[in-house]
Amino acid sequence: MYAGCWATLDRLLAETAARVESHLEQWTAGPDVPAELAEAMRYAVLGGGKRLRPAMVLLAARAVHSGGRLPADPLPAAVAMELVHTYSLVHDDLPAMDDDDLRRGRPTVHVRYGQAMAILVGDALLTEAFSLLARRVADPAVAIALVGELARGAGAEGMIAGQVADMALCRLPDGQAGLDYIHTRKTAALFAAAARMGARCGGADDDQLRRLGAFGFDVGLAFQAADDLLDATSTSEQLGKTAGKDVAAGKRTYPAVLGLDATAARIRELTDQAVEHLAGFGSEADPLRALAERLRERTH
Ligand code: IPE
Ligand code: IPE
Ligand code: MG
Ligand code: MG
Ligand code: MG
Repeated sequence: MYAGCWATLDRLLAETAARVESHLEQWTAGPDVPAELAEAMRYAVLGGGKRLRPAMVLLAARAVHSGGRLPADPLPAAVAMELVHTYSLVHDDLPAMDDDDLRRGRPTVHVRYGQAMAILVGDALLTEAFSLLARRVADPAVAIALVGELARGAGAEGMIAGQVADMALCRLPDGQAGLDYIHTRKTAALFAAAARMGARCGGADDDQLRRLGAFGFDVGLAFQAADDLLDATSTSEQLGKTAGKDVAAGKRTYPAVLGLDATAARIRELTDQAVEHLAGFGSEADPLRALAERLRERTH
């Protein structure tokens, strides 16, 4: 329905990625960070990536406050989101976890700099994300709210719970229920946080906050289902990471539990559901609608 917006969306995504990247460059490692650590942190964050979670932050802010100056600048929140996401990838790739040597088309951080440095790079990126929110969000009440959102999405009830479940380190129900437990936490929770952080920067009321959070959550769940599907159907060159790893590692994924066709159907269903949460928002939410539909069709 919003396919006509795709050229505009692509331009918007390229613009937001460029803004986020220039600030990642500036904000990732301060002057007193040891040069070796700063280099490895920059290698992790500046080596490509689709920058979707920061785009979600920026577009959600605009969805509630389309014209003029936003109540709070969403850029620190967008950059903090990408720092947390990148840390999660650095740790996810470690030998003790998914043991991957290719990420964003390049050797993973631990392959390039060693495991100890990769662990510490992840620790530093995570910590710096919260530091950024504390230092660069002007309104203390907004800063505290953003810290809470990010911690909830990324923490022990969110992304880390999902990663623990993904690694089979906790008991889970069989079948779809266990799969949903993993995927809602390891990925959807952070996408929901991204949308809610943007909403808060745009001055959303409670209902808008809830709706945008639900939108981010469903997009995030569809995104992880698509990640699983692409792992099974795409090439390493297309993905910039090694394809076919999930089956090899015996991971619980959508294709493993539902099959390829039902996974594709689930992605469509979740995308439609995501867009329905935006009923009540006007054309200022069109970029978010277009983003959801774009991700449904993604090939990498
Ligand atoms: C990869 O996320 C990890 C998942 C949650 C599926 P992305 O596919 O957004 O990774 P980058 O940031 O573009 O590399
Ligand atoms: C990653 O899921 C989720 C997080 C990093 C939190 P995957 O393990 O499927 O991500 P990829 O496929 O390595 O990017
Ligand atoms: Mg993983
Ligand atoms: Mg992985
Ligand atoms: Mg994957």
